[in-house]
Amino acid sequence: MVSDADLLDKITDYTRKQGGDTAIERLLANVVSQVREFAEARASEIKRLSDIGIALSAERNLERLLERIVDEARRFTRADAGTLYTVQINPATNLPELKFDIMQNDTMNTRQGGTSGNPITLPPVPLVKDGKPNHNNVSAYVADTGETVNIPDVYIAEGFDFTGPRKFDQITGYRTKSMLVAPMRNHEGEIIGVLQLLNAKVPGGERVIPFSDEYVDLIKSLASQAAVAITTARLIQDLQNLFESVIRLVASAIDEKSAYTGGHITRVAGLSMKIAETINETTEGDFAEVKFTPDELNELRIAAWLHDIGKITTPEYVVDKGTKLETIFDRIELIKTRFEVIRRGMIADAMEYKMRLVANGADSEALKAVDEQLAVRLEEVESDKEFVARCNTPGEFLKDDAIDRLKAIAAKTFLLDGVETPYLTENELKNLSIRKGSLTEEERQIINNHVSVTIKMLSQLPFPKKLSHVVEYAGAHHEKLNGAGYPNGWTAERLAIQSRILCLADICEALTAADRPYKPAMPKERAFQILGFMAKDQEIDERLLKLFMEKEVYDRYMVEYKAQKEAETAAATAK
Ligand SMILES: [Fe+2]
Ligand SMILES: [Fe+2]
Repeated sequence: MVSDADLLDKITDYTRKQGGDTAIERLLANVVSQVREFAEARASEIKRLSDIGIALSAERNLERLLERIVDEARRFTRADAGTLYTVQINPATNLPELKFDIMQNDTMNTRQGGTSGNPITLPPVPLVKDGKPNHNNVSAYVADTGETVNIPDVYIAEGFDFTGPRKFDQITGYRTKSMLVAPMRNHEGEIIGVLQLLNAKVPGGERVIPFSDEYVDLIKSLASQAAVAITTARLIQDLQNLFESVIRLVASAIDEKSAYTGGHITRVAGLSMKIAETINETTEGDFAEVKFTPDELNELRIAAWLHDIGKITTPEYVVDKGTKLETIFDRIELIKTRFEVIRRGMIADAMEYKMRLVANGADSEALKAVDEQLAVRLEEVESDKEFVARCNTPGEFLKDDAIDRLKAIAAKTFLLDGVETPYLTENELKNLSIRKGSLTEEERQIINNHVSVTIKMLSQLPFPKKLSHVVEYAGAHHEKLNGAGYPNGWTAERLAIQSRILCLADICEALTAADRPYKPAMPKERAFQILGFMAKDQEIDERLLKLFMEKEVYDRYMVEYKAQKEAETAAATAK
């Protein structure tokens, strides 16, 4: 390639050979310099356009993206104002229309839509009016035809109805003059919006001039790049919304499984986020240096929403087991009926015996003795029944003598349809003999197994890089810093701060939940005391608990949670 300097040298050389006419020399040098300036300007514009394209494709937030498109297009063309519309379907008419998304005007010093905080109240522009394409409106025309329209002065232009801009000018004192309107066509050839630029200014000045024709192709190209970026951002947002909805659906299915633990996942997720946000706000102490990025916060939130997903396979009766004899119903009712049968059997036996005594001419003393004996036996049955019912409810720790008494009751028999039957079955005795809580060892295992199932299920999902730790955090929510947790017995070194947050939120929620079977809500103070003991025993993170209590994370979250619940109830009643 010949450089400018070489070219100038060649020209000078040539004119010299031709006799050396300096006037021609100067003229040619001037031409070369102008050509060079022009070429450089175009090259720099193409470079800027490409930079804008790269920047737009990196923006994932739709509102910021739309705003940025208008900003960049205006800067590129030195336009005083700009509007971005997107095509949407009117839900009432089912017809397409242009929705005002972004409006910017430097002279009026206004920015509306997007992240500006100033919503646009203008009604959408219909693309179809009276059954025909709305070609009177320049933006609707561009959206429908895909043509780019460049108007030097809208006050003298023909073919479009500009009463709207004129009315705007009348009210505001603005003067709408030049206008460049380009369709935003995505990679699939679909027009998804319109970019309208107003009042191009002279370089470095305020004078309004028509949009240069050179810009038409460049703006068309920019609008298309913007359309592709919008389509991509929307697609990502749609997928994210879908993913989010699926997660919430699964979480609510698990919460619905139990009337007692309902809302657990929602509250654990909320508490976890509150702890993480509090850490981010902290500028001193143990967590001054810890800062979670928005992606890391999102990853923790997803892990919290999914932490108990394994419970989907846990049988309801175990999740909800409120009494020791509960399966899908409380078997104490069965035992109570059995004791009633025993009681009536005893009465019938005594009656029969008395009749035999009478037939054999026994005296009243003998009959009285039978009644007294019956009364003693009935009292014993009643007492056994009450004792069994008491043992069925998990409360006090069952001591050895209670277990012995249960065994003695179970060993008693009665006749049922002529068959010698024990008062309590083997399984009933086993369940009633649970010393603490309501779960047998096997059932405890079934419950604990939910974490292993969580890990197994989540490991099968192709999480993107930004969510690559979800399995780790969710799967560690029953681990303890001292290694006594499950399922892996991980110790402190292996437990990330995110896992520790989830552990704390999970335990705190379980302790303070108002809705466990046979367990009244624990006062916050008592729950915090237990958490304190757990921290001392190196089960949960002591520093985290300190921050949790000092910054009143629980109280602050519960205020928000209750307000949210009230708003949901109000919305549901309003329907
Ligand atoms: Fe769990
Ligand atoms: Fe949980």
